[in-house]
Amino acid sequence: MEPKLCSGLFLLIVTACFILLLTSTNFSHEPSSTYCTNSSSSPLCASRNFLFNKKTRPITKNVPKPKPKNHDHVSDTPNHPLDPLTVMEINKVRSILSSHALFASPAPHSFHSIVLEEPDKNLVRQWEKGTTLPPRKASVIARVGADSHVLTVDISTSYVDLVDSPVHAPGYPIMTLEEMASATWAPFTNEDFNRTILSRGVDLTDVICFPISSGWFDNKEGNRRLIKIQCFSTQGTVNFYMRPIEGLTLLFDLDIKQILETTDTGRSIPIPGSTNTDYRFSNLPNRDKTRPLNPISIEQPRGPSFVIEDNHLVKWANWEFHLKPDPRAGLVISTVKVHDPDTEVSREVMYKGFVSELFVPYMDPSEAWYFKTYMDAGEYGFGLQAMPLEPLNDCPRNAVYMDGIFAAADGTPYVRENMICVFERYAGDIGWRHSENPVTGMPPLREVRPKVTLVVRMVSSVGNYDYIIDYEFQTDGLMRAKVGLSGILMVKGTTYKNKNQVKKDKEGNEEELYGTILSENVIGVIHDHYVTFYLDLDVDGPNNSFVKVNLKRQQTEPGESPRKSYMNVVKNTAKTEKDGQIKLSLYDPSEYHVINSGKTTRVGNPTGYKVVPRATAASLLDRDDLPQKRGAFTNNQIWVTPYNKSEQWAGGLFTYQSHGDDTLAVWSNRDRDIENKDIVVWYTLGFHHIPCQEDFPIMPTVSSSFDLKPVNFFERNPILSATPNFEHDLPVCGAGSVSA
Ligand SMILES: *[C@@H]1O[C@H](CO)[C@@H](O)[C@H](O)[C@H]1NC(C)=O
Ligand SMILES: *[C@@H]1O[C@H](CO)[C@@H](O)[C@H](O)[C@H]1NC(C)=O
Ligand SMILES: *[C@@H]1O[C@H](CO)[C@@H](O)[C@H](O)[C@H]1NC(C)=O
Ligand SMILES: *[C@@H]1O[C@H](CO)[C@@H](O)[C@H](O)[C@H]1NC(C)=O
Ligand SMILES: *[C@@H]1O[C@H](CO)[C@@H](O)[C@H](O)[C@H]1NC(C)=O
Repeated sequence: MEPKLCSGLFLLIVTACFILLLTSTNFSHEPSSTYCTNSSSSPLCASRNFLFNKKTRPITKNVPKPKPKNHDHVSDTPNHPLDPLTVMEINKVRSILSSHALFASPAPHSFHSIVLEEPDKNLVRQWEKGTTLPPRKASVIARVGADSHVLTVDISTSYVDLVDSPVHAPGYPIMTLEEMASATWAPFTNEDFNRTILSRGVDLTDVICFPISSGWFDNKEGNRRLIKIQCFSTQGTVNFYMRPIEGLTLLFDLDIKQILETTDTGRSIPIPGSTNTDYRFSNLPNRDKTRPLNPISIEQPRGPSFVIEDNHLVKWANWEFHLKPDPRAGLVISTVKVHDPDTEVSREVMYKGFVSELFVPYMDPSEAWYFKTYMDAGEYGFGLQAMPLEPLNDCPRNAVYMDGIFAAADGTPYVRENMICVFERYAGDIGWRHSENPVTGMPPLREVRPKVTLVVRMVSSVGNYDYIIDYEFQTDGLMRAKVGLSGILMVKGTTYKNKNQVKKDKEGNEEELYGTILSENVIGVIHDHYVTFYLDLDVDGPNNSFVKVNLKRQQTEPGESPRKSYMNVVKNTAKTEKDGQIKLSLYDPSEYHVINSGKTTRVGNPTGYKVVPRATAASLLDRDDLPQKRGAFTNNQIWVTPYNKSEQWAGGLFTYQSHGDDTLAVWSNRDRDIENKDIVVWYTLGFHHIPCQEDFPIMPTVSSSFDLKPVNFFERNPILSATPNFEHDLPVCGAGSVSA
């Protein structure tokens, strides 16, 4: 390994250096420190005046950086039926399997997933703290030679159940990080590749290669597990994504670890320059010219208002839920309950919620680009790609962190530190309010409540892109799922330095560029992002129905009213899955309620939660285009299926090179009964992205969200008795004391 290559790669996500780092420092931790718990004793609060009085000093140098909470995972034991596998349990699974006949063959084997096999839903729902846990089992996906296997391992009895072994369905498991790393290094073993690079005048030590899932196009794949590899120049920049070696694509076999094919369609295209591509604070030439903001943070002198019991059970205000990291989904929220202020009872809202799959098709059909149709969860592992969060900037100072425990390809457990953060947010928003207007003659009346929320956050850096996933809980019973997109565009090299050079035909139409020129020789290619959420809502228990509350224009009878029309609601309860396939439309608006018809409020409304869409996008690809068939779970924005433990991954369990025959769309078309059943709602949040110059060299975050909002769930406003803010309660390092 060239030292220079390694130091460049060190900044990356998917590299051999990184893998070595991960597996060799499996349980090491940063030294511990806690959040600000007492304003008068906190060093930061105490240094406030120093910070504000010496404006010339660089502020960042004075701020002690919070370090992750120290936690010794080696002795972790599970406390809840849904707790992820511990270090000890993964080691046990590994040792059980090492003596199993399946792994005795000399054929190479790798573990693509070792996670908790969740106990049956009823067992989990009925389990009570203090009672024994249901049997702990691991669900394992392995490859032995050219076969995939699905197994469950009973950790206490050592019994190995070959659930599906070998797997006959098309498609392959998630790549391991080790495989991704092997692909990034493979090109350098190929003399032709070296020659091609050198012939472009590029120094081999400046080249970084990147594994790109190859989609499935029913042509060259046969029974091979393939990946495409494309390369970039790091010369003069850490932002190598902006310096593509355009058109050079290698085809790599992930099993036999061989380069099968090299295509080069971009010899005439220059590698874009490195100027202005660096985004590191330390390297920005103009940063002192911007008017700086004063330091800002939230203080919680008495500590946070939430607790995380037994490492995974979050309790805050009226909410309680189980939180765990997952290598495929990123993070999983389970057994979500909300406390009802009227009945003093904790009521079930959602059994399980997570990001089931992502679909990211690029809109350039040319040779070096057509295959870029990523499924980030099923191909790369949305959780495997979640890097440690950066305290103070990824999450505010009052955040606490949770580590992920995952298994490497050889089954060894490792710790992904600070993968999730949990914090309370007070963004200056209002929970509810009213001011009485003096024209009514009422005495002055102003009643306001601040809105404080709880945020659970994870950021997955799937190669160039960064997905920020937030679940936000409000005290009024609302849950918001929010997706933020940042990171770096996947760009295309071009001979054009300026729009005025783009060729035009006789009619004056510009040549198709498939995107926007962002900088000299750089095109940002148009693409979509779809994030499909699995939402197993259990409103007051599992027996639920999905009701489309359709808003309809009604005409008045002639002479009935000075009005010609009004709007009313027409409710349709979905009987079968096809009634639950929803395409959103502004001109045919509806609310989408998940109700429990067996439970009504005092005045007789069924209790419910509604799915509230916000800005989103729908795929325009041909339904028969192979990427769209594989991504058919994005054909509707909402789907409703009956609960089935085997149907959790919208793109199929084996997404890599899948053919689209095990997707949510296929399941839903079985048209099973969904009325008064345990149902799962699937919501897809979409983005069309036409890149613009502001996205260069790194993108300001763009976000969208959807809500799960109570609808006739509570008897009244559940935060009527919330407390207002009072000055005397607030920390001394508040905004008011700055001028002092
Ligand atoms: C951590 O990894 C090293 C090397 O991979 C291994 O020897 C060690 O046993 C691991 N630690 C634990 C606690 O499993
Ligand atoms: C905060 O710190 C002060 C001074 O160190 C101490 O007197 C006080 O008891 C602390 N308060 C809390 C709530 O810990
Ligand atoms: C290609 O170049 C790299 C970097 O200089 C070198 O390590 C490798 O051995 C070369 N590969 C071949 C097959 O010559
Ligand atoms: C759910 O509904 C089914 C069918 O309507 C009924 O048989 C069952 O008892 C219900 N279960 C609960 C927990 O209410
Ligand atoms: C549960 O899902 C699996 C996988 O899609 C399917 O084979 C099975 O038929 C489903 N069961 C029911 C009852 O729908």
